[in-house]
Amino acid sequence: MTALLETRGVSKAFGAFQALDHVSMKIDEGELISVVGPNGAGKTTLVNLLTGLMVPTSGQVMFLGKDIAGIGPVELADQGLARTFQLIQIFPKLTVAETIAAAVVSRQKKRWRLLSRLSADAEITARVGEVADIFGLRHRLASVAAALSQGEKKLLDVASAFALDPQVILLDEPTSGVSTADKHPIMKTLIAAAKIAGVKAIVLVEHDMDLVAAYSHRIIALAEGRVLADLPPDRFFADPTLIETVIGKRRNR
Ligand SMILES: Nc1ncnc2c1ncn2[C@@H]1O[C@H](COP(=O)(O)OP(=O)(O)OP(=O)(O)O)[C@@H](O)[C@H]1O
Ligand SMILES: [Mg+2]
Repeated sequence: MTALLETRGVSKAFGAFQALDHVSMKIDEGELISVVGPNGAGKTTLVNLLTGLMVPTSGQVMFLGKDIAGIGPVELADQGLARTFQLIQIFPKLTVAETIAAAVVSRQKKRWRLLSRLSADAEITARVGEVADIFGLRHRLASVAAALSQGEKKLLDVASAFALDPQVILLDEPTSGVSTADKHPIMKTLIAAAKIAGVKAIVLVEHDMDLVAAYSHRIIALAEGRVLADLPPDRFFADPTLIETVIGKRRNR
């Protein structure tokens, strides 16, 4: 079976620094994969390669069996891959409705050229409402993004990625900066959203081991640019040395 998303012997160097070193991993349909590892392990670099934002120094990145190295985020979203960034990418002055609409429009623009302006507007509004409902943001539609709580900002960021209607979604620390009490509700919301939207796989970069333990089907641990482990949660959490390496060098954040 062709993996949804796969890297084959991927390395990425920044000058003399080797950020990723021969990383091979794959993601199959129905999986939620967590990518874990200490600060600087190469997690975000891996996401950047998996979403075609960066070109590997060597090796291949395949989405649905096609090489997507350096393809760029716009083209990739058209093909069914969406992501969020470690630092949220929302415009503070846009409202929640405008933010979601921007994603909805960019996804649907081809189809909407065929519709009248009026029915296109109605369809956009309906879809924005639908996405807002899934993420519990309906009552916030008219608020500017800057007025949202940190948890709501994170949800809005994730909602924008979902509005692209992707097959696979990559989330780089979707709960960072959010209070511990809000982390589980955010994860539950986004997993429920993925089910409703028919998202086939989720890649989650996450530092919080409670969340990793609760939601992952498989855990990929990176350290110094290499795959240290690729295991189901029960086996991962049975290895104290592994856990120590993964969380050991954490920066306070
Ligand atoms: N564009 C870049 N230019 C130079 N070095 C980079 C670049 N991007 C990442 N690096 C370096 O590559 C290494 C891996 O970075 P990366 O952002 O992938 O780590 P990470 O695992 O996501 O860390 P964190 O947990 O802090 O988010 C780090 O040492 C980082 O400084
Ligand atoms: Mg990172």
